[in-house]
Amino acid sequence: MTHPFTKLTTTASSKPPPPLITFTFLLILCIIGFYTLHHPYPSPATPPLRNPQTALHFQKTFLSLSSNYTVSSYLRDLTHHPHLAGTEPSLDTVRYVQSHFEQLKFNTHTVEYKALLSYPVHASVSAHFSNGTTVELSLTEKGISQNAILDVVQPYHAYSPSGSAYGKVVFVNYGREEDYRALEAAGVNVSGCVVMARKGSVLSRSGVIFLAEAKGAIGVLLYAEWDRLRGGGVERGTVMRGVGDPLSPGWAGVEGGESLDLEDSEVSKRFPKIPSLPLSFENAQIILGSLWGGFVPQFLNDLGRVNGGRVGPGPTMVNLTFQGVCCVVEKKHQLKHLRRHREFSKGKKKVATIYNVFAVIRGLEEPNRYVLLGNHRDAWTYGAIDPNSGTAALLDIARRYALLMRLGWSPRRTIIFCSWDAEEFGMIGSTEWVEENLVNLGAKAVAYLNVDCAVQGPGFFAGATPQLDDILIEVTKMVKDPESESGTLYDQWSAPNRIFNIQRLGGVDSDFASFVQHAGVPSVDMYYGKDFPVYHTALDTYTWIVGHADPLFHRHVAVAGVWGLLALHLADDSILPFNFLSYSDQLQENKDILSNLLDQRISLDPLTAAIKDLTSAAKDAQNEAKRLREQEHLGGVEILKIHDLNDRLMLAERGFLDTDGLQGRQWFKHLIYGPHDEYESKLSCFPGIADAISQSTSMSKKDGEALIQHEVWRVARAIQRAASALRGELT
Ligand SMILES: *[C@@H]1O[C@H](CO)[C@@H](O)[C@H](O)[C@H]1NC(C)=O
Ligand SMILES: *[C@@H]1O[C@H](CO)[C@@H](O)[C@H](O)[C@H]1NC(C)=O
Ligand SMILES: *[C@@H]1O[C@H](CO)[C@@H](O)[C@H](O)[C@H]1NC(C)=O
Ligand SMILES: *[C@@H]1O[C@H](CO)[C@@H](O)[C@H](O)[C@H]1NC(C)=O
Repeated sequence: MTHPFTKLTTTASSKPPPPLITFTFLLILCIIGFYTLHHPYPSPATPPLRNPQTALHFQKTFLSLSSNYTVSSYLRDLTHHPHLAGTEPSLDTVRYVQSHFEQLKFNTHTVEYKALLSYPVHASVSAHFSNGTTVELSLTEKGISQNAILDVVQPYHAYSPSGSAYGKVVFVNYGREEDYRALEAAGVNVSGCVVMARKGSVLSRSGVIFLAEAKGAIGVLLYAEWDRLRGGGVERGTVMRGVGDPLSPGWAGVEGGESLDLEDSEVSKRFPKIPSLPLSFENAQIILGSLWGGFVPQFLNDLGRVNGGRVGPGPTMVNLTFQGVCCVVEKKHQLKHLRRHREFSKGKKKVATIYNVFAVIRGLEEPNRYVLLGNHRDAWTYGAIDPNSGTAALLDIARRYALLMRLGWSPRRTIIFCSWDAEEFGMIGSTEWVEENLVNLGAKAVAYLNVDCAVQGPGFFAGATPQLDDILIEVTKMVKDPESESGTLYDQWSAPNRIFNIQRLGGVDSDFASFVQHAGVPSVDMYYGKDFPVYHTALDTYTWIVGHADPLFHRHVAVAGVWGLLALHLADDSILPFNFLSYSDQLQENKDILSNLLDQRISLDPLTAAIKDLTSAAKDAQNEAKRLREQEHLGGVEILKIHDLNDRLMLAERGFLDTDGLQGRQWFKHLIYGPHDEYESKLSCFPGIADAISQSTSMSKKDGEALIQHEVWRVARAIQRAASALRGELT
């Protein structure tokens, strides 16, 4: 396999140049210097416009430089060893990504943070059956080699407290509020019990644990339903609430900076108080099959097979014991040592170092505008899908951009490649960086393009803040569909049975969270396939990708194509390709859903008026862009106008931010997209209104209505701010 870029570098620098060539080169330099003196480069205030044909040429060249060979080799290199954040082997991936960028001659740097991470020391689960037998359940994953068992961190829940829970077992289905209602109706009370839940897609891992704790459970065993397919893997994961380093909530955890104590209530409120562990599907069935007690018909679908729908409590008792450390790791401690290492004193704070790696391609005309491409690098185990399928795609985009630069391309705006650390523990690397750079990002970030698990299987999926919908769809028309001989990704994505379904970025499941929800940066997230069975298990390996997710790496190439092209448009288009009409359509749709949910007495008029205002500002911006694009001769004045329009297009998203943030979760500043506190909300946006609706159920009618009405007003004002930023006029 050849690395096209390496080949170019070697031919260019293999021999010292003969004198004549040196002379000619110097002469050319002089001519360029003379020319530049007399045609000074326009000042940043009036950047020249680019020929759209040239831009198209570079986009096509970018696509033609794709290679499934390079992507697959990056992936293989990155996934030789497990690389859990904060551990020694993870440094190899830091160096790998860093040296890749350096070889491409990009301006590369690494930013370190100190963060509280959490690792297991000991874990056990024993089941005590009513017939008197006791079984020690194996927590080791099946279907992996002995070496791999020693190499990977044992299945655990990061930030689970240390302790034992000994009690009767109750099956709580997905562990949602409605599941507990069903249990209550059947006369089952989980207080004092160890609950067993299966992980669904509605509730996050921490959501399940915190709700169980609130219901009085003393411990939680969680198994993933897709375990059946994965042949013995067990899902690791974090159970911390919120995002970012818990010791530096809202600011960056830099060396020597302010760091809260573990006992601080701001820190401890983010961790559950009851221990929990993940369990294999097989082990879960052994326990479920031995339960008697309450009968819940709603759970029968899944349970019926096992034991006729009996959910407990008991008579089976379990002893769930977890001993963890928050946090290690002295350098050089491999995880195998970690497990034997028991002298970590409880409560003593030791923080791990995490590393974000960046490569910067400075924009030629607008260096102060940033287009960021980000992916995390740390993994629970080998990380082939999660997240290094994305890292491989990112490195391949960098390779291709370097080649474009040799062909004469430079981006108009600055492009920044970001390789995050400690995402698995709660988006820590990206969050600390966004917190540290909040003002500069607010003033200069055009867009953030995230890819986490790039390829999990078949089918393209994407999420975006709505002003980016159009350009996302446009770009898929240029990328080849990996599943067919000829068609484009657009053909496949828009096929009648699949219709476009661009998701929204209100969840906190990857590194876009702090960009959208804290900094108000327009963002995109994309991936191939979903719900892959080896998620967070030791089976997430290169071999699994080749065997299942993407045998010929064509899906990797497609993701890199969409991702890289999107960045080229955002970095090079003279006028930013943002359409705010999609935003107002989205808001309108959600307002309609809201009006069906709410009592007539709550007025949505403020929302209606604000959305109308945004729609009209969006139309004006579209017309303005159209006029500017149609002008044949663009003088300094028009160029300034384009600059002004771009600034307004960039800043409008920040209008949705509110200094006070969501009530009770002030870090989340975005009032349109953010996580809901209430897990059963029918709303995909307006998290503050959704929270108010759920809180109102435990209030007097009058107070409840007042709370909801206030949240409606807050959202309306946020939309109004966005409209006014888009117009760019003072009142
Ligand atoms: C469950 O039991 C606990 C302790 O006995 C009690 O405090 C609680 O109110 C009960 N919950 C329900 C819903 O009955
Ligand atoms: C006791 O019950 C468990 C669970 O039902 C079962 O797996 C085990 O084989 C039983 N042991 C004996 C000795 O019957
Ligand atoms: C539960 O297991 C732990 C670890 O094996 C042990 O130390 C503890 O005594 C057990 N608790 C009970 C109540 O059996
Ligand atoms: C790349 O794609 C070609 C054409 O489909 C295929 O023959 C080759 O095996 C692929 N390479 C890798 C590394 O998967």
